[in-house]
Amino acid sequence: MQRKITSAILLVGGMGTRMQPLTFSTPKPMLKVAGVPFTEHQIVKAREAGITEIVLATSFMAEIFEPYFGNGEKFGLKISYAVEESALGTGGAIRNAAKKLSGTGPVVIFNGDVLSSHNLREQMEFHETNNADVTLYLTEVPDARAFGVVELDASKRILTFNEKMENPPTNMINAGCYIFNHDVIESIPENAVISVERETFPGLLNNDGRLFGFVDSNYWLDIGNPGALLKATSDLISGVASSSAVDEALADGRIFRRDSTLLHGENVVFEQPSTQDSGCFIGSGAVIGSQSTLSRCVVGENAIVGEKAVLINTFVAPGFHVPAATLAENAFLGFTR
Ligand code: GTP
Repeated sequence: MQRKITSAILLVGGMGTRMQPLTFSTPKPMLKVAGVPFTEHQIVKAREAGITEIVLATSFMAEIFEPYFGNGEKFGLKISYAVEESALGTGGAIRNAAKKLSGTGPVVIFNGDVLSSHNLREQMEFHETNNADVTLYLTEVPDARAFGVVELDASKRILTFNEKMENPPTNMINAGCYIFNHDVIESIPENAVISVERETFPGLLNNDGRLFGFVDSNYWLDIGNPGALLKATSDLISGVASSSAVDEALADGRIFRRDSTLLHGENVVFEQPSTQDSGCFIGSGAVIGSQSTLSRCVVGENAIVGEKAVLINTFVAPGFHVPAATLAENAFLGFTR
């Protein structure tokens, strides 16, 4: 009989250095995508797959998470927190967070920066059917150099794991959602800085561990840098990607839909006429000047976009005043480095 997998750990303690300057004041997993903190998208995805208990493994800016997520009741599951005084790396964080879980069944682990439509339930079933020690969600990308890359045999058992290399042997990458059996977690040394990618996976493979790859080609995006954050927002708003967390925030009145391609927070002023033609999110209290045009943009809370500005694929910092008639494309306006 298959065991039901009900526990998850979210790795949300990284420094998010590639996401600076946005991460100077907010940890990467709390940055908003389509108006909803990134971690919330993952919590809702986990709940929909049957997860009932989540530990957030925090370190950098740990204090930001608990006031927002509380004990999880608002999100329909139990949430607790494992805070690392100094960052333990992905493996050390998993070992530390697992102590807070109530059961000893397999655990779903999410990297805190992946937006995906992969079928998590199927990944869980695949893990059980293969009697795997670890199951990695894999996806194929055109350029795999910046990722962990695996080689598989015909049964989808992982033969090699290669972390970030110049000439990767395949384009099949670690897509950042794993299932670990509890005894594998317990084999990770305690209170040590450990990387699952550089130490745990290669170590398990050297010891004949049963690592399998669950290949899924649905939407996947690594939200590692500010450009990806903009893309994730516009993909969610324009329907290229989907997340029930957006629907729930709309239903709760936390965010609002102005038309099919624009979502916004409270008290936004749209001076008429203005045009927003695809995938924009406007933060609470912002003012969008008349005759301005915005496409694939995120405008921070209380920012002002001057009249006749044309902004394409651009991120406006909270509170920033974009002067009238500004033309900007692929820009980050008002962020200090
Ligand atoms: P960069 O600094 O820009 O590489 O981003 P990052 O710090 O988020 O690192 P990376 O993308 O490699 O991390 C993958 C995931 O693991 C992210 O969700 C991080 O938040 C998380 N993570 C990385 N290191 C740690 C750690 O030491 N502790 C915890 N709890 N989470 C971590």
